[in-house]
Amino acid sequence: MDANPAAVRVEHVTIGYGTVPVLLDCSVTIGAGQMVGIIGPNGAGKTTLIKVLLGILEPDLGRVLIAGHAPGKHVGHIAYVPQRSQVDWDFPITVGEVVRMGRYGRHPFWRQLHASDEQAAAEALQLVDMSDYTHRQVGMLSGGQQQRVFLARALAQGAEILLLDEPLAGVDVRTEESIIGILRRVRDSGRTLLVVHHDLSTAAAYFDRLLLLKQRVIAYGPPATVLQRDLLEEVYGGRVAALIASLSQEPSATPSPVGDEDA
Ligand SMILES: Nc1ncnc2c1ncn2[C@@H]1O[C@H](COP(=O)(O)OP(=O)(O)OP(=O)(O)O)[C@@H](O)[C@H]1O
Ligand SMILES: [Mg+2]
Repeated sequence: MDANPAAVRVEHVTIGYGTVPVLLDCSVTIGAGQMVGIIGPNGAGKTTLIKVLLGILEPDLGRVLIAGHAPGKHVGHIAYVPQRSQVDWDFPITVGEVVRMGRYGRHPFWRQLHASDEQAAAEALQLVDMSDYTHRQVGMLSGGQQQRVFLARALAQGAEILLLDEPLAGVDVRTEESIIGILRRVRDSGRTLLVVHHDLSTAAAYFDRLLLLKQRVIAYGPPATVLQRDLLEEVYGGRVAALIASLSQEPSATPSPVGDEDA
């Protein structure tokens, strides 16, 4: 095993639902401390990749390593903010309970949370500016508020690697800026973030690296090397031509191989 393993290593992962392939021979190495945007059209396999990294789905071929370990083996390593559509919002649970759930993975199920757990949960809620809503039912919150609560749960876990599936979907500009600010602070504390993101116009500004996915890893690297006209047209078709023309930077570098040099 590496003395200094990559945060996330995906090796030749192939997986399908039934006989339909969703990811084909995907490989990428992500170094620690990066804020990575995962981009690609609907159905590209972004959520499936996240589920493989979490160990919820087992690849048919290949493997993934999280900080050098098989996924699911080290609960403390990885935290997850699900895509909103995948959460049952009618489930009767308060904001405070959702965030405290982030601490339960650290203890045997029968043990009470410590005062330090309560404090970690309270601090996480404060960080996302939702302390005033601790006793509110989570189903009664707005979409942006719900998103912040799930971010707080992930932060409360204290994980080294955070996986976020479209945390900015359907939130207003102010919430978007505040979530990005929080994520940057998490990154600056040395943690690694993988964030599924749909808005190509903000992708370069928000992320250190982009992973362009469409069944395969089309490109991985600094935004300027990934947001190239030919690559985007290959993935999104002609629909993005206007957007590409409007992207502020006109990237020229060649796409990098799929790995972080520093990993
Ligand atoms: N449980 C499932 N059973 C069968 N097919 C599935 C299942 N989950 C996803 N798929 C299919 O796998 C493909 C990839 O789905 P996935 O959810 O990974 O895409 P995505 O990139 O996250 O898309 P989106 O941007 O719409 O969230 C899609 O064609 C989808 O219909
Ligand atoms: Mg998805």
